[in-house]
Amino acid sequence: MLSKEQNDYVTQTGPSTPMGALFRSYWLPILLSSELPENDCPPVRVKVLSERLLAFRDSEGKLGLIDEFCAHRGVSLWFGRNEECGLRCPYHGWKFDVNGQCVDVPSEPVESGYAKKIKLKSYPLIDKGGILWTYMGPAETMPAEPAWEFANVPLNQSFTTKRLQECNWLQAMEGGIDSSHVSWLHRGDLNNDPLFKGAAGNKYNLNDLSPVFEVVQAEGGLYIGARRNAEDDQYYWRITPWVMPCFTMVPPRGDHPIHGHFWVPIDDETCTAWSFDYHPTRALTAAEVDAMKAGKGIHVRYVPGTFRPLANKDNDYLMDRQAQKEGRTFSGIEGIGMQDASLQESMGPIIDRTKENLVGCDNGIIMARHRLMRAAKALAEKGELPPGRTVEHQKVRSAALLLKRDQAYKDGAKEALIAREGVRQTSV
Ligand code: FES
Ligand SMILES: [Fe+2]
Repeated sequence: MLSKEQNDYVTQTGPSTPMGALFRSYWLPILLSSELPENDCPPVRVKVLSERLLAFRDSEGKLGLIDEFCAHRGVSLWFGRNEECGLRCPYHGWKFDVNGQCVDVPSEPVESGYAKKIKLKSYPLIDKGGILWTYMGPAETMPAEPAWEFANVPLNQSFTTKRLQECNWLQAMEGGIDSSHVSWLHRGDLNNDPLFKGAAGNKYNLNDLSPVFEVVQAEGGLYIGARRNAEDDQYYWRITPWVMPCFTMVPPRGDHPIHGHFWVPIDDETCTAWSFDYHPTRALTAAEVDAMKAGKGIHVRYVPGTFRPLANKDNDYLMDRQAQKEGRTFSGIEGIGMQDASLQESMGPIIDRTKENLVGCDNGIIMARHRLMRAAKALAEKGELPPGRTVEHQKVRSAALLLKRDQAYKDGAKEALIAREGVRQTSV
């Protein structure tokens, strides 16, 4: 449970909010590289952390993320012409480069130097792992480029999608560290989904519906360990890393690709759910990629031409009561991604956390919220940079493994939780 003040504090990420400043301490994924496929291609509107921006790729391939609106009289530059190394506003012809610098005001003589004095807000935009990332914080504290393993393996080893989620980022992210729902909500899919089925570990999930959770502090965030009974004197552990502020990884199953998410606020009532799949040591197979493209695993199918899921709140997520009754899906909603999103959106755009009744298996969620609030406060009051920005904090992995019952997972799974180049994931 949070107080109303705490709930506002931790969910609001617009400019000049403490959580907004926290988010502006990191490189955030904002577009797929394929959305800006070539030089001088159409610009793309981006709303992130409640700011309306425009991304474009200029004639030389340089990437820019600038204020969406023209400095002259506020026209959306989405209508602009992307030509000769800049975006030209179609209204009166003012032109801006990828840094937001105005380079031409046709009505004013060049000698006046007027254009030089005009600059739009702009943020850096970099291409890594098939994703465009931005950093919206102060230049002096820009962190190293994203070191997440999924974004650094060869492109044929990873596959990333994004979808619109119509609720606040935090309740979406909380689903990512809430391992206790897996045995319920997703139970129909463990043995059916091509990206999950066949793993030896699935039987432990399905046989033991009362996992014991152990949350351990990590330098960059938390590890959430879920323990289930296994044969002999062993436990089956599924360990989810959460790295500040919004990165989580699902524990692997067999040799299937590992997957995870980023939840990036669009504004306070919507977010972009990023879903990635990758294998640390091999290319994804054509069958795997086809399944991901078809919306299997954590991916979804879309309303054509958009990133809005085909199953959405306007069509009751294509609820199938027959499938629910027969247990083919536990909630009646198809697909792991939409099973999560439908329930998270059903809480309302921003859940009222004063009304919750939290129990033991919510410990990871409780600790993550407090960690976020503490970090935002330390940044706002003391200028202390938050965890999760360094290469070391980002080189994490989820793991699924059997350990002796007397062994603590933070020791037994220590190596398994580090992303090591050329080393396969630890998985049952
Ligand atoms: S509004 Fe853009 S040039 Fe006038
Ligand atoms: Fe889920």
